[in-house]
Amino acid sequence: MATDPLERAREEFLAALAEAGRDAARIEAVRVRFAGRRSGLLRDLEEALKTLPREAKPAYGKALNELKRLVEERLAAAHDGAAAGGPSRSLDVTLPGRRPVTGALHPVTLVRREIEEIFLRMGYSVADGPEVEDDWHNFGALNMPPDHPARDTQDTFFLAGGPLLRTHTSPVQIRSMETMPLPIRVIIPGRVYRRDSDLRHSPMFHQVEGLVVGEGVTFGNLKATLEAFVHVLFDPRLAVRFRPSFFPFTEPSAEVDITCVLCLGRGCPMCSGSGWIEILGAGMVDPRVLRACKIDPERASGFAFGCGLDRVALLKYRLPDLRLLFSGDERLLRQFEGAR
Ligand code: FA5
Ligand code: MG
Repeated sequence: MATDPLERAREEFLAALAEAGRDAARIEAVRVRFAGRRSGLLRDLEEALKTLPREAKPAYGKALNELKRLVEERLAAAHDGAAAGGPSRSLDVTLPGRRPVTGALHPVTLVRREIEEIFLRMGYSVADGPEVEDDWHNFGALNMPPDHPARDTQDTFFLAGGPLLRTHTSPVQIRSMETMPLPIRVIIPGRVYRRDSDLRHSPMFHQVEGLVVGEGVTFGNLKATLEAFVHVLFDPRLAVRFRPSFFPFTEPSAEVDITCVLCLGRGCPMCSGSGWIEILGAGMVDPRVLRACKIDPERASGFAFGCGLDRVALLKYRLPDLRLLFSGDERLLRQFEGAR
């Protein structure tokens, strides 16, 4: 071990710096200990110069200057090394990283895909049709001739020259029956349009339509299909209730309610205390509709249903207002990140 105080300081400095490695905080501590302006070891050694006998001063001063230069150079190099790679005070590696911004699927897309999958497993195929429709497919073939009062309930957007924005997905029933061989099993999701806007109505919304046509298709098949669907999509504990209703294109017709998904039937604000929530319209395809599509009602029968996809998304994800879905609010969409 060196006895000369300068040599000892040099050894201590080099050992401390080696031990600090590339840790910027520890390098800084070494700097303070040796080169700190107020209490660093180099300063003490400089003070010691004053107490030396005159003839010893030049050699000591020269060695001290060499030590200072060494300390300065090594500290600078160590700081550079830390900045280049090692952990440091300005880079806290324990902080969570910045996540890349990724997109999220819209809740309506998620529900549409889920419904498609459920029906694909039951042997259906997915069909679609144009959003700009003609009068025949949206109304006429569906047993709504030009003066039929049911047309008024659809709040139609008409385009110049005759075409219209389809008011429901039912025209794709017609297109399917016009083009596909029997038996037909299709599920038809899509955008539809009505002049309608409030808490539960949007001028653009989504429906999903189901159509089955073949020999001996019954209302019992319809009930079993919808029950299976509701049980898979929501909850096997839910009951399904059919209320007699009217659509020009089905006979008999029903509106279908399910047990409220929030209160499981006890009654809550979501179901207005009734314990039930309406989710779709359905019925047996009217013989006049079959005939309009050149299908003989003596040989084949069918059922159809039409469901508001957006309302299903609200129920499924417990959202309070239909308009949220179309507000483009990122905060809503971010909650669906990672879903598929
Ligand atoms: C129909 O549109 C029929 N085509 C359904 C149908 C198909 C019946 C096949 C029988 C056989 P309705 O007008 O009731 O029916 O609409 C069906 C569903 O669409 C409603 O239950 C509701 O969930 C949804 N819906 C209707 N209007 C709006 C709107 N403006 N905004 C959001 N959802 C709506
Ligand atoms: Mg309505």
